[in-house]
Amino acid sequence: MTSDIHDDAVLIVDFGSQYSQLIARRVRELGVFSQICAWDNDQVNPEYLSKFRGIILSGGPETTTIDSAPFASDAILSAGLPILGICYGMQTLAKQLGGAVEPSDVHEFGYARIEVEGQNKLLSGISDHHEDGKDYLDVWMSHGDRVSEMPEGFQLTASTESCPIAGFADEERHIYGIQFHPEVTHTLQGARVLEHFVRGVCGCGSSWTPAQIVADAIEKIRDQVGTDHVILGLSGGVDSSVTAALLAKAIGKQLTCVFVDNGLLRKDEATQVIEMFGDDMGLDIRQIDAEELFLGKLKGVSDPEEKRKVIGNTFIEVFDESAATIDNANWLAQGTIYPDVIESAASATGKAHVIKSHHNVGGLPEDMQLKLLEPLRELFKDEVRKIGLELGLPYDMVYRHPFPGPGLGVRILGEVKKEYADLLREADAIFIEELRTADLYHKVSQAFTVFLPVRSVGVVGDARRYAHVVSLRAVETIDFMTARSAHLSHDFLDRVSSRIINEIPGISRVTLDISSKPPATIEWE
Ligand code: XMP
Repeated sequence: MTSDIHDDAVLIVDFGSQYSQLIARRVRELGVFSQICAWDNDQVNPEYLSKFRGIILSGGPETTTIDSAPFASDAILSAGLPILGICYGMQTLAKQLGGAVEPSDVHEFGYARIEVEGQNKLLSGISDHHEDGKDYLDVWMSHGDRVSEMPEGFQLTASTESCPIAGFADEERHIYGIQFHPEVTHTLQGARVLEHFVRGVCGCGSSWTPAQIVADAIEKIRDQVGTDHVILGLSGGVDSSVTAALLAKAIGKQLTCVFVDNGLLRKDEATQVIEMFGDDMGLDIRQIDAEELFLGKLKGVSDPEEKRKVIGNTFIEVFDESAATIDNANWLAQGTIYPDVIESAASATGKAHVIKSHHNVGGLPEDMQLKLLEPLRELFKDEVRKIGLELGLPYDMVYRHPFPGPGLGVRILGEVKKEYADLLREADAIFIEELRTADLYHKVSQAFTVFLPVRSVGVVGDARRYAHVVSLRAVETIDFMTARSAHLSHDFLDRVSSRIINEIPGISRVTLDISSKPPATIEWE
């Protein structure tokens, strides 16, 4: 009944744009399944393309004016499917189909007002301004090159003063190009432009909804697993929690969760997880207290990458040992989500630089006997959250800030000690509590406290205090690839600082991290 939610699918061909995932998400927000593939993926052949009803070519950082420029494959151009080229995608269409592209004197970056030209299925009927009988759209541009000549058979659909060919279309072949970015919210009517493409041109419906995704996932899990038993490493993070809720609904008692307390969790986290999933949802959870083991292995280790490896390997060791005691388990469930899949594919082809080794991607023993079950593999984070709500998980749980796999291990700079972790837990809990009280928690994307292993002099009452320093970090970001420090008021920061110093004797000073990413990263290690 629900097996058709992938039928109306759109393929996003990625030319290296930072916005490719955003295009895929926007299409899905319209209720249409989308998938991303790299422009040079050699699996893209007619059979692969037959799963799709349309193709979007993304933007990209390259120029089509050199010989080695990325291009749309013959399979894509000859599939007979509707195509929408965005920015670089439009330029490569122009070049490959017989038009021309030239470097522009003016590099446009930011808002532009485009004039909609003629009648076509993509842009007609959408306007932000109507003046002198003409329609205009406020859009976001970001390009150096521009199309200087349209291929034969194409009509002009949009123009600006500095970019006379800002949109073109061959309606007979259902091929469209736009120089602006409809996927970013700065393009006010961007969602409608994409909707015109996926519905009006490609003829897609809108079956990709949280309720349908859940129903489809449940059916698939039951099909895959049958009467087998499944093990899940539950961390309390959004992805593993939604996986647990989904599996609970699909296979109930055939699921056993393993929750490893590594001593690097936030305040009261273990209790909350056990209460929610064990007591409230009735799941079978094995709680393993491994604080001593983890902290023992981390003794004397201060290099960030080394710490990540120790924590990752110890987790696998503890988890495997516990899993081996669960009878008849043939499946290991993981909360892998679509960006993890894209990221691992990119690092496998050497296209992504490893800045930090995020150990939740990969890291499984090579001789693992269990089969892998990844029910969130197709979903973006915002979709995981929506299906979490659909499954009845509380809003505050589903919209919790991300917490890194190595936990407080990467928020205690240098060597990790229990004393430091205890102090950090208390300070972080105060910061988060104050954010919630001030109704700021959901307005920032991620907030936490970092422990600095230095000591500083303070005076509390009449006494001298020589104690540790923490730093507050709060960021705003859309995709966690870039971020800026959140602008919290001085009054608010004063309150947090004074509570931390007054309530925690081991901390004498509170600082604020205002670095942007890049060049800093969000976490300190
Ligand atoms: P950075 O510090 O790289 O962080 O700017 C970007 C986002 O990723 C999270 N992060 C991690 N998540 N394992 C994880 O599961 C890790 O090792 C890890 N390191 C960073 C970080 O919290 C932020 O949301």
